[in-house]
Amino acid sequence: MSDDRLPVTTAPIPVPIAVIDRAEALRKDLDRERAAGRTVGLVPTMGSLHAGHSALIRRAASECDVVAVTIFVNPLQFGLGEDLADYPRDLAGDLEIAGEAGATVVFAPPTDEMFPGGRSATTVTVGGLSEGLEGASRPGHFDGVATVVARLFNLAGPCRAYFGEKDFQQLAVVRRMVADLGVPVQVVGCRTVRDTDGLAWSSRNRYLTGKERAAAAVLFRALEAGADALGGRQRQAGEVRRVMAATVAAEPLALLDYADVVDPDFLAPLDLVGPGSEVRLLVAAWVGGTRLIDNVAVTVP
Ligand code: PAJ
Repeated sequence: MSDDRLPVTTAPIPVPIAVIDRAEALRKDLDRERAAGRTVGLVPTMGSLHAGHSALIRRAASECDVVAVTIFVNPLQFGLGEDLADYPRDLAGDLEIAGEAGATVVFAPPTDEMFPGGRSATTVTVGGLSEGLEGASRPGHFDGVATVVARLFNLAGPCRAYFGEKDFQQLAVVRRMVADLGVPVQVVGCRTVRDTDGLAWSSRNRYLTGKERAAAAVLFRALEAGADALGGRQRQAGEVRRVMAATVAAEPLALLDYADVVDPDFLAPLDLVGPGSEVRLLVAAWVGGTRLIDNVAVTVP
């Protein structure tokens, strides 16, 4: 037997990925899958896919029969002066990453297909949860997120939808919207994927220069410093905030937006942290011209 008849690779043969750009086509495709008894996983993204997105897609592929990844840079969630025009776009690269991670369908609609004229007369507002933290720094941001996610959920139909804890407030807002509106979607939160120095993967990391990229690890260091303070029995949330802020302040290329200690369900800022409770530490900072966010969970000893 000649060598060419032996298997040369054990890597899975990638399934060709279907690219859809019409909303009705996505709806029909996923309805057909469900009618055939298959379960649907949905991974909403703005593209420029990285290891964080891949982890969501892989998880969806391990739990669902078909996985639809949506790629849409949603104008509704960008404020004036934010990076909508510059947001990195790379459909060819995205298709490769999505396919490798196990996506079966990619929905990449033009803006007019989602929001004719780039606008929506209907806005979904999730009160309370949307107001602090990112909502305070980026007014209207979560209205834009909730409105596009509601539209995507309506198009996709009953499914499991995968979101990253990296955007912890977004995850809370989406969960609350689903609960309030009775949307037939099960929201699955996935752990944050980080680079070796702790920096969370983000499409916006592509904006960083070499020096800024090195400096950006300060966000995770600040979260670790906050977690260490809690581990050292610090019970005053104000003191934990101060430790996180001081860590960011020590990095000349970084400028703090906020550092906070909140309860993980309502994202309410805490005063005193109780032993045994779970809290969330969050940080947002500018590194050069790029705004980055990160967070970690801490179980208070
Ligand atoms: P985007 O920033 O592209 O992120 C898509 C999903 O990937 C989100 O659920 C986000 O939390 C998750 N994600 C990003 N970085 C991650 C990381 N390092 N580890 C784990 N998960 C990560 O979030 C959005 O797009 C948009 O707001 C969207 C929900 C698509 C609505 O437009």
